[in-house]
Amino acid sequence: MREPRNDAVLAGHGEDSTMPEDRPRRLRREGIRQMVSETTIDANDLIAPLFVDATTTERTPIDAMPGRERVPIDELVERAREVTASGVSAVVLFGIPRSKDERGSRAWAVDGIIQEALGRLRAETDLFLITDVCLCEYTDHGHCGVLDEDGDTTVDNDATLELLEKIAVSHAQAGADMIAPSGMMDGMIGTIRSALDENGYPDVAIMSYAVKYHSAFYGPFREAADGAPAFGDRRHYQMDPGNRREALREARLDVEQGADVIMVKPALPYLDIVRDVRDAFDVPVAAYNVSGEYAMVEAAGERGWLDRDAVAKEAVRSIKRAGADLILTYFAEDLAGGE
Ligand code: PBG
Repeated sequence: MREPRNDAVLAGHGEDSTMPEDRPRRLRREGIRQMVSETTIDANDLIAPLFVDATTTERTPIDAMPGRERVPIDELVERAREVTASGVSAVVLFGIPRSKDERGSRAWAVDGIIQEALGRLRAETDLFLITDVCLCEYTDHGHCGVLDEDGDTTVDNDATLELLEKIAVSHAQAGADMIAPSGMMDGMIGTIRSALDENGYPDVAIMSYAVKYHSAFYGPFREAADGAPAFGDRRHYQMDPGNRREALREARLDVEQGADVIMVKPALPYLDIVRDVRDAFDVPVAAYNVSGEYAMVEAAGERGWLDRDAVAKEAVRSIKRAGADLILTYFAEDLAGGE
C-alpha cells in the first residue's frame, strides 16, 4: 500500500479537508485515456460466423438476425472477400445441406456443403478456416447426434462419436485449419484428436465448444442454420445454465483430451464462467457471442432504444475483459476497424 498523500496539506487545505487525495479522473482526460485503456478489441481476436446454404442460389436474409444472411456456395468467395476487407481473418463455417436424413450423412459427404465451401475458400482466400462439427443441421430430427435405438428420443453418445470422427476427418481433408465440435458429446475431443492424427492431420487444431449451456439465446441461430430439434430438447447433452463448477470439469476433460482452444457459449450471460475458465487453464479461451445476444442488440437498435454500434462494441469488449482471447461474434466485421 502507498502512503497516503499529503498534497492537500501542501496545497494549503486543512487536515480535515473534504477534497479527495486521489483523483482517477486525471487519467480519463483526452490523450491519456486511450493509453491507459486495459482492454481493446483487436481484429485478430474476432471470428466471423458464416452460413453456407446448399438449398439456395441467392443470398437469403435471416429474419431474426438483421444484416446476416445465408450464402449460396457460388457467392461464398465474394462473401469471404467482404470479411477479409473488414480486417477479420478467421471464419467459422456452418452448413445447410441440400437434404437431411436420420444419421445426418450429408455432414461427412465428400461433396457436402462444408467440404465444397472449404475447397473454394482454401483455393481463393487466405482466411483461417474453422468448421463447426455437429449433426443438428444434417439430421432430419435436428438433434446433435444419432438417436438411441430403443428410446428414440435421446442422443446416443458413443454412436455419435463415430460419426463426428468422420465429419472431422472429412473437413480436415477438404482444407479446414481448425475443427470446432459443438455437440457436447462426452469424449468427443479425444476421439476426434485421434481420428485426425491417425488420418494424417496432426496439425489441424481443435477448438472445443467445451462449456456449452442449454440456452434460449440460440433461438435465432436455429432459424439461420435450420437446426431446431423436431422434438424434445438438448438438456440431456448441453449444460444446465445454473452450473458453475461443472464448467471447470467440462473444460478440464477437453483440455486433457487434447483441445487446443476451449470455448464458453453463450458469452454475455456467462461472463463469470469465461473468467473462471480463463483463470483455471492455460490454453486460449474462446467465447461465443451467440445469435440471441446479437438479435437483442439489433432489435433494440432498430427501435432506437439503444445505440446499436456502441452497445455492440461495449458488449464484445466486456467479453474480452472477462478473459476471452478469441471471440466468435456476428458483430466481427463491424468491430474489426477495417474498411
Ligand atoms: C450447433 C450449434 C448451435 C450454435 C452453434 N453451433 C446451435 C445449438 O446448439 O442449438 C449456436 C450459435 C448461435 O446461437 O449463434 N450445435
